[in-house]
Amino acid sequence: MGRAMRSTPPPQTYRVKSFGCQMNVYDGERMGELLNAQGLTPAAEGAAADLVVLNTCHIREKAAEKVYSDIGRIVKDASLEGGAAPLIAVAGCVAQAEGEEIMARAPAVRMVVGPQAYHRLPEMLARAQAGQRVTDTDMPAETKFDALPRRRRTGATAFLTVQEGCDKFCTYCVVPYTRGAEISRPFSDLVTEAQKLVETGAREITLLGQNVNAWTGEDDKGRAIGLDGLIRALAALPDLARIRYTTSHPNDMSEGLIAAHGEVEKLMPFLHLPVQSGSDRVLRAMNRSHDVAGYLRLLDRVRSVRPDIALSGDFIVGFPGETEAEFAETLALVDAVGYAQCFSFKYSPRPGTPAATMDGQIEAVVMDDRLRRLQDAINRHQHAFNTATLGKRVAVLVERNGRHPGQWLGKSPWLQSVHFEHESAGSEPILGDLVEVEIVQAGPNSLHGVPVAVAA
Ligand code: SAH
Ligand code: SF4
Ligand code: F3S
Repeated sequence: MGRAMRSTPPPQTYRVKSFGCQMNVYDGERMGELLNAQGLTPAAEGAAADLVVLNTCHIREKAAEKVYSDIGRIVKDASLEGGAAPLIAVAGCVAQAEGEEIMARAPAVRMVVGPQAYHRLPEMLARAQAGQRVTDTDMPAETKFDALPRRRRTGATAFLTVQEGCDKFCTYCVVPYTRGAEISRPFSDLVTEAQKLVETGAREITLLGQNVNAWTGEDDKGRAIGLDGLIRALAALPDLARIRYTTSHPNDMSEGLIAAHGEVEKLMPFLHLPVQSGSDRVLRAMNRSHDVAGYLRLLDRVRSVRPDIALSGDFIVGFPGETEAEFAETLALVDAVGYAQCFSFKYSPRPGTPAATMDGQIEAVVMDDRLRRLQDAINRHQHAFNTATLGKRVAVLVERNGRHPGQWLGKSPWLQSVHFEHESAGSEPILGDLVEVEIVQAGPNSLHGVPVAVAA
């Protein structure tokens, strides 16, 4: 459908801006590859693009509102420079949730494309060029993955979406509506995509899913396997050095996956396992279908096979009806677990979710105060976790150059950012090398080290 406008010359350059989670970033990369295959090229840093794709996130109100200010800025910049406004496409989860509203509120937008429909971007682009305004927020039966071009270029680390969607319906969350039902991509497609990523330079692959540990499939012998089976298969790729996965749900943490943490050397000692609250009453109101004791038992089991595992979580403060005593239970849980890092958010009521109309919505000042206290606790544990690596030798996968010449940045096995200078090493590292680094300084957010050896 669409309203006719004047037609525009074909765009030559594009820019994809991704605002959301890692899967949103992955989708942004794939949209870029799709546009490359159409003959477009990425706009140079700082230069105007003929086509701008705003790849949006709907998870919290702030994230969702950002798209409108961005559209305004793009239109204003173009008119200040006296040039033609670029073609604007809105993709991602806001597109899925508010497609019609975007078209009504933002006349400059020519295309709205949902997260399950972006493989149809080339056809949409042709129609937009012909002067139409086009919306595609279908969740088609065919999967976009079959229609996307093969992976081409990648850095030392890469994302690979293996599972999408969510059937859990936590009462605060939009993801089941914006991403649809849980689906697992087929095993052989994933092995092929992983091989391609490794051939183009990836040394580390992070397997992505809204509930990544709900992935199921059949291996090449037709046996039913879970995420641990997929991880074991990918670990057999000789040039792949590291495997990570995110985000997991406590209820899908299988025996096999826990065991893999003790057995698969390439599986990094890091587990992001969101719990959201330390109060069983709040967890029930959130429809999380796990309690605090069960969550702690899970962590104990993972620690029993991998004692050095770094733990990470997500927390929401100020869920409707959360009392001070219930919030204190969240603080106590953070202290009990001793997370290596965490994400924490103020509850944001999302239209259409059950929690948005629950009684007991919490005042902003109370939420601000709770978030600050929670973040203080999280930062304290994160700093302590980092400090514990002082004096240790850790393997750093080199991801990029630092701000200063001769400085390099990478990650430890526990996902800590590590920077080091190469002058002190025998030979200069290259991106994708594993460098053994002795940690000499530990800050709240990063580590500084001195290289000991390069072991490519
Ligand atoms: N599937 C993952 C995470 C999805 S969204 C999981 O269940 O763990 C990432 C995080 O955003 C969530 O873990 C939650 O902490 C936060 N989040 C989701 N909806 C939110 C809302 N309405 N307000 C504030 N935070 C929210
Ligand atoms: Fe959202 Fe809950 Fe699904 Fe995570 S498990 S995506 S928080 S509904
Ligand atoms: Fe945001 Fe959609 Fe990801 S709402 S967090 S971009 S799944």
